[in-house]
Order: sequence, then structure tokens, then C-alpha cells
Amino acid sequence: MNLHTRPKTLALLIAIVGVALPASAQAGREPAKSMPWMNASLSPDERADLVVKEMTLDEKITLLHGTGMRGLGPMSPLSVNSNGGAGYVVGIPRLGIPGIQMSDAAYGVRSSGENGRYSTALPDDLAGAASWDLDAAYEYGALIGRELRDQGYNMTLGGGVDLAREPRNGRTFEYMGEDPILAGTMVGRLMKGEQAQHVIGDIKHYAMNDQESGRNAVNVNIDKRSMRESDLLAFEIGLRGSDASAVMCAYNRVNGDYACENKYLLTDVLKKDWKFPGFVLSDWGGTHSTAKASAAGLDHEEPAEIFYGEPMKKAVESGKVPMAELDDHVHRIVRSMFASGVIDDPPQKSVVDVERDLDIAQKIEEQSIVLLKNEHSQLPLDASKVGSIAVIGAHADVGMISGGGSAQVDPPGGNAIVPPGQGRTTWQAHIWFPTSPLRSIQAEAPNAHIQYDSGTDPASVAALAKASDVAIVFASQWESEGMDLDSLSLPDHQDDLIAAVAAANPNTIVVLETGSPVTMPWADQVSGILEVWYSGSRGAQALARVIFGEVNPTAKLPITFPRSDEDLPHRNIVKPPPLPEGWKAIAAGLPAFQTTYDEGLKVGYKWYDAEKKPVLFPFGYGLSYTTYSYSSLKVTPGDKVHLTFTVTNTGARAGAEIAEVYAALPESAGEPPKRLVGWSKVKLNAGESKEVAIEIVPDYLSIFNVERNAWQLIPGDYTFLVGGSSQSLALKESISLK
Ligand code: BGC
Repeated sequence: MNLHTRPKTLALLIAIVGVALPASAQAGREPAKSMPWMNASLSPDERADLVVKEMTLDEKITLLHGTGMRGLGPMSPLSVNSNGGAGYVVGIPRLGIPGIQMSDAAYGVRSSGENGRYSTALPDDLAGAASWDLDAAYEYGALIGRELRDQGYNMTLGGGVDLAREPRNGRTFEYMGEDPILAGTMVGRLMKGEQAQHVIGDIKHYAMNDQESGRNAVNVNIDKRSMRESDLLAFEIGLRGSDASAVMCAYNRVNGDYACENKYLLTDVLKKDWKFPGFVLSDWGGTHSTAKASAAGLDHEEPAEIFYGEPMKKAVESGKVPMAELDDHVHRIVRSMFASGVIDDPPQKSVVDVERDLDIAQKIEEQSIVLLKNEHSQLPLDASKVGSIAVIGAHADVGMISGGGSAQVDPPGGNAIVPPGQGRTTWQAHIWFPTSPLRSIQAEAPNAHIQYDSGTDPASVAALAKASDVAIVFASQWESEGMDLDSLSLPDHQDDLIAAVAAANPNTIVVLETGSPVTMPWADQVSGILEVWYSGSRGAQALARVIFGEVNPTAKLPITFPRSDEDLPHRNIVKPPPLPEGWKAIAAGLPAFQTTYDEGLKVGYKWYDAEKKPVLFPFGYGLSYTTYSYSSLKVTPGDKVHLTFTVTNTGARAGAEIAEVYAALPESAGEPPKRLVGWSKVKLNAGESKEVAIEIVPDYLSIFNVERNAWQLIPGDYTFLVGGSSQSLALKESISLK
């Protein structure tokens, strides 16, 4: 069941739990006479120490929970002060501590529709990862941070970085792909950009929330080494790179305990090993206990106060939760508010800079579109030469699709595929942004004869394709929180449509609007394939600029495209048995069902490499309108391994190549054949060569030793492989490391 779809449970829940007004809000205490914690020259921890000392027990409890959520409940009367986001925490005005206004913001700020505001949709997070571009990731986060503040929020709930162990997970588009070093680095840059705008940054869903089916019940079984080297490493790198102030724990169980009351995850790893100074908040309805969760390291319950309201107060008063533990939770929340700047620089509502942000969304999409196939240099099209173009399928006359669930950004004017005024966003509706490929293609090629066909009638589409110089066929795969894909096949007979168009016209280009990889039984029959992901507010304009060569593609896949579902580590996603429904049952804890990630370390390309399974398009792959060559690799051991090599643009156009470095560890390390350890995006004019220098972070060459609870470099021979994709690695050199 999906928590967001059950508004009727609200009345029931209020009856069960009651709605308590926090005493601090009723007491009307005098404002503090002096506020030494407002001295910005003190550290966030010093400031938090000073202010926590002044708080009453009720005030402390106030900070430990939300106030309900529209349609989710239970609602506190104090939620009237909510800014309309997913979460609102009451502040302590007498001590100068503001409330926390949280909004989902995966690829843009959520709920602008129902709040009567505007938000820009960026390309989805997976698309952002496909840019492999650190500046683009920072800009991505900065845009979201600014739009959050303009709309009155001071905390984001974005920052999804669960690894794509299971690419059919309906939230794959909200995450950063299958490699921990790429995903962690990119989410870290994104969150750094976001938090630099003075909002509280958040990284989620910690951890192993790799399927949506039965997410409130499933128990994920996985060994610690695999977690630390893969899924948790992405979080570790993301936190290190961003200083994000908050971590959202996931709905699911991990090795027996719910993630939000899992001592290993929250305390041993996050707070002790990684020294995370911020706070842990539960996913919405992901809290299941008071004393156990508190002792395990959960600092804050969302969206309501079922366990961390009155029950927490009682637990503290009875000594079941020690005061020092409570103070640590509160300290972490308040120090995060100081550290992220939301106390010294609170948001002021203002008009979003729409024009500027649309341009940024377009530029990022231009860096995220992956050119997967370009037979006979079909692309770019020459606008002065092409006579006629058939634009086919996927509502390409009016818009481009977006990802759903709590990531959903609302399009201005409503869903582009329904009549004006009727396209309000509803939970899990398939929402199309008003960015029309047809219009953008026409704008780029004003003299060409361009016609659209919806693709529903095979005879008419074949006739149009046949009569046109070029056919551009659009295909989409929608996904969302709260669902998983049954298969990586395109839905709704779109494979048949593409095959029919390709049979009618040898110059067929396929444009994929997908949130996960898809299989392509027609791949050999078409001449061009572009993966544009969920392309955001300006997707069509970015796409048209790529199609006509104003932009030379640079992006590379952050996730493997397998040949078939059969090649995935698991043939099917384990589905839950029938489960009890309703908030009460979820809060009490649903009966567990099991999923076991026995592929362990072999996530994504590591699986296909180790199992010697050929793939459709490998991790790290992406073409350009020019070509590159690699030479002169030199690997120098030291505290940090240092690599230099040369990349040359061997074609006739300027471009940028993402040069990738992989390492094969010594046999005795017991690792998959190779792992990504670094990359660099190199801008090159036609014919130009540049020397690239890359330093490898030592841990990236290590394994995680569970007995010692530490990273360990295994002495032996390390082979470094350099090139343009995980399966095209022209340069190779081995060194011995001790
Ligand atoms: C999602 C979170 C989201 C929260 C608040 C949950 O259902 O899993 O990602 O932040 O709702 O909307």
C-alpha cells in the first residue's frame, strides 16, 4: 500500500492517536533575555550547546517530530503554519529557533501546483548523473536550493542515492545510477550546491531501499562488506562531499531491523564510523518505536508524532530514554540549522527566477542526453538539407514525460496531454511537461516539412514514416515511487511501433524518455538512438539542439542497459504477500518478507563483468559527434596513486570527452573484475590533445574488512584501465602496491 494514497485513514488515525498540542506552544514563555547562541562566530556545535541548555523538555520534544501531512495525518493544529511542504516542525520563537519547512525536491520543488507557485523541473537525477559533470551537479542543487527558499522552505528532502542494484525499482530516476563512486560524488556536489543556498541538505533513503514493492515490510538481507563497498559507500562519499545536514532513513528493514531503528546503520556506521554530525529523520511513516529507535540513532520522526511526541516525553520522564540521548537528538537538529545557515539567513519568499532557471535546466539536459547509436553519422541532422521529418509517438506533439511520486514537479499549465485547466497533478498520474519536441524540431528546421503521428494506427504511421526523409520516434517508460517496473521492456507495444517505423524508413532515430534502462529488440534496425531520460522543463529544446548539432553530446550512461531481464541478478522482484493496510498497521510494523541480495559486490557493470554477460550498452558508454583517442598512460604509486594520460579529439568538431579510470584489484582481494575509481571531463577542440591528471582516493582501491571494521589495501598488483566506457579501455598499466 502507498501511504500517500490513503487520506481516509486520517480520521481513523486522529481517533487512535489523538492530536496533542506541544506544551511549548501553549505555555507562552517569555523570550530569552539574551541569546548568546546567535553569535555567528561560534561553531554550530557551541551554538547548539548554548541553546539546548535553555530548552524545556517540551521544547526539546517539539523539535523531534513533524506536525502531520496533508492527506497523511495525524495533523497537529500547529500545522496551519506549514508552508505546504511534506513536513513542518514547530520552532521555538522565544529562543530564536525558526520552524523547519521541508519540501520534497528531487528534480525540482514539489507541490507547486497545490500551493499556487512555480517550480522548474530539472532533468531527473539519473540524467544529472549521466552528465558526470561536477559543475552541472552543483548548479542542479543550487537551482533547487534557490527555488526552495523563494517558496519559503528551509529544508530539502532531495538527495536520493540508493544504488541501482535493481534497475526496475520505480525510483531509479530519483537516484544516481549503479556505481557508488559516481553516485556518491554526484549527489555530494548536488547537495553542496543546494546547502550553499542556506537550506538544510538531506541525503536519502538510508539504506537499501532498492524496491518499492512492499517497501514498508521488506527485509533486505545483505552482507556487510557488500553494503559498505557499494550501497553505503555512495552515502559515505555523498556526505563527505557535501556536509549535508540530514539523512533520511528508509522504510525497509535491513538484516532484520527497520532502517529507522537499525543501530548498525544509524549509529555504528553513520554516526561513529563516518562521524556524521547532523540528524537522522525517518521516511514518512518509517518510525516504528520510541526507545528502540532513539537508542539506535533516529533523531526525528516524520511526518507526525506517533512515537516521538507524548510517548517520547513519557519515555524520558520514566528514564527509558536517557536525557543525554534526547539532548543529542536535539543538539544534532539545532546544530544542523546553525551549520546550514537557516537561522542566520532565513528564507524570504520571492519570485522564482523562471527565465534563468529554465536556461539552467536546458543546459544540464544538454549535458545529460546520451547518444547511444549513430549509424552512418545519421545525426546531427542538417537543418538546411533535410526536407521532411516524421515525429512519432509519446505525445511528442505537446510534451515530454516526468517521473512521479513525491519527486513529482508540477508543470506550469498542468499536464500537457490533457485539456487546459484539467491537468492538475494527482498522485501517480503520468505527467507530461509542456516542452514540445515537435515545436522545437520545427523551430530548428523552419524550412522542413514536419508532421506528427501519435503512433496509434500502424498503417498511418508506416505511411508517414515512408514518405519522410527522417523518422524520429519517441518512446516513454513512466515510473514512480510506490511501484516497480515488471520488466525493462518498453510498455504499451512501443517496441512494435519502433520496429514498424524502422521497417518503413531506414533513417529512423529513436528518442527514449525513460527513468530506467530499457531493452531494445529493435536496436539493430534503427540508425540513431538518444536516451534523454525525464528531461525536465526544457527537454525538447535541449533535444532539438542535440539533433541538429548545436550541442555535441557528451553524456555517458550511469547505469548498464542489459540485453534482457533474464540477465539481471534477479529474474523477478520479490513481491510482498497480502499485507495489512493502514497507518496503524504500518506504524506497528508489518510482517516481514525477505529479499536477498546475494549478488553482493556485483552491482551493475560489476555483475555483467563477473558473470561474463554481454550487455546492450555498457556503463560509462556514450557517443559524440566527434571521436577521441587515448595514449601515453603513466601510473605513479605513492600515498595517492597518480595517473596521467593524453586524450585527443580525432574528429572534426569540438567536444568534451568523459575519460574514465577503472582499477582491477589483486586476485586475492576477491573483488569483481574492475571498479570505477576516477574520471575527468576534458574539453577538446577538433584535433586538440590534452594531458589529463587524475589522483585516486586511497579508499577507492581498498576493500572493506568487516572484522577490523576498516578499509584495507590488499598488497599486490593493481591494473589501471583508461578509456571512454567500461568496455572500451584502450590504455592499461599495472603497478604493485603495498
Ligand atoms: C518518500 C520520501 C519523501 C516523503 C515525503 C515518502 O513517501 O519515500 O522520499 O521525502 O514521502 O514526501
